Amino acid sequence: MSSTSPRRVAVTGASGKLGRHVVAHLAEHGYDVLALDRVRPADSSGPFVAVDLTDYGQVVEALSGGVDEHPVAVDAVVHLAAVPAPGLTTNAATFANNSAATYNVFAAARALGIRRIVWASSETVLGLPFETPPPYVPVDEEYHPRPESTYSLNKALEEEMARHFCRWDPELVMVGLRFSNVMDPDDYAAFPSFDADPALRQWNLWGYIDGRDGAQAVRLGLERTEPGCEVFVIANADTVMSRSSADLMAEVFPGVEVRRELGEHETLLGIDKARRLLGYQPAHSWRDHVD
Ligand SMILES: NC(=O)c1ccc[n+]([C@@H]2O[C@H](COP(=O)([O-])OP(=O)(O)OC[C@H]3O[C@@H](n4cnc5c(N)ncnc54)[C@H](O)[C@@H]3O)[C@@H](O)[C@H]2O)c1
Repeated sequence: MSSTSPRRVAVTGASGKLGRHVVAHLAEHGYDVLALDRVRPADSSGPFVAVDLTDYGQVVEALSGGVDEHPVAVDAVVHLAAVPAPGLTTNAATFANNSAATYNVFAAARALGIRRIVWASSETVLGLPFETPPPYVPVDEEYHPRPESTYSLNKALEEEMARHFCRWDPELVMVGLRFSNVMDPDDYAAFPSFDADPALRQWNLWGYIDGRDGAQAVRLGLERTEPGCEVFVIANADTVMSRSSADLMAEVFPGVEVRRELGEHETLLGIDKARRLLGYQPAHSWRDHVD
């Protein structure tokens, strides 16, 4: 943590698959974490407040130190809470929950003078499930979002909303992390089964993000000091497959431009910008967990 890093951070979605890693990682790195979620985390004894983020008043109270027993205002927010994929509930319910939660977090932070926000966008804005092939690989942040579901549409709108919040406040630092498919070490036993059929995981170009590396990206986002809104693709350095990335592209997306020579298992979800501007360096690979 640098001297300019925020110290007391609220994490929304703290009880979720990614949130659990983020809370643990930030605490390990010396941050005071206030966990916020609709449901209590299964395995945490740290400060927690149950909040429905679709209620603006609850968000303001939680972030401002207004909740009894949690009287300290936070100086940064990590916003992860969401219905985390298309098709888990109706499109309208996904949109209503996710858009209201994100607006309320961004607006409450603005009202309270909190100027560091890191939030979860999604790889889906890159055009998943790539029924229309990607424009080129590795895909990156350089082309306009191509949401193909209501869930993804909302993530794309959140990125646009963040740009306007930054326009309204030139000192605001907002970092949107377009996470790939979040994985825990327990998930890796299934990975070798993907090899038989490239079609099984072509929907996200065979990408993934280890929850611990996702947490690293969140911390690096909190350490960013450059005002304005930036979005980053966050994936692991390799794919989920044993076959080479070049081989997979040639078979499954033969017409798509491969923009550079690829490392054998190099991710097709480009993380160059995150490496360059955040110092992101994925430390984990499923290959270290499976014989
Ligand atoms: N899981 C993935 O593969 C993936 C991929 C890309 C992006 N993301 C994004 O990352 C974030 C975290 O995803 P996850 O996999 O940990 O999801 P998760 O479902 O495991 O966790 C999300 C948490 O948000 C909470 N939540 C949802 N709506 C809420 C509300 N209105 N008020 C309070 N809490 C609320 C839920 O209770 C849950 O604990 C989400 O924004 C998701 O869209 C996830």
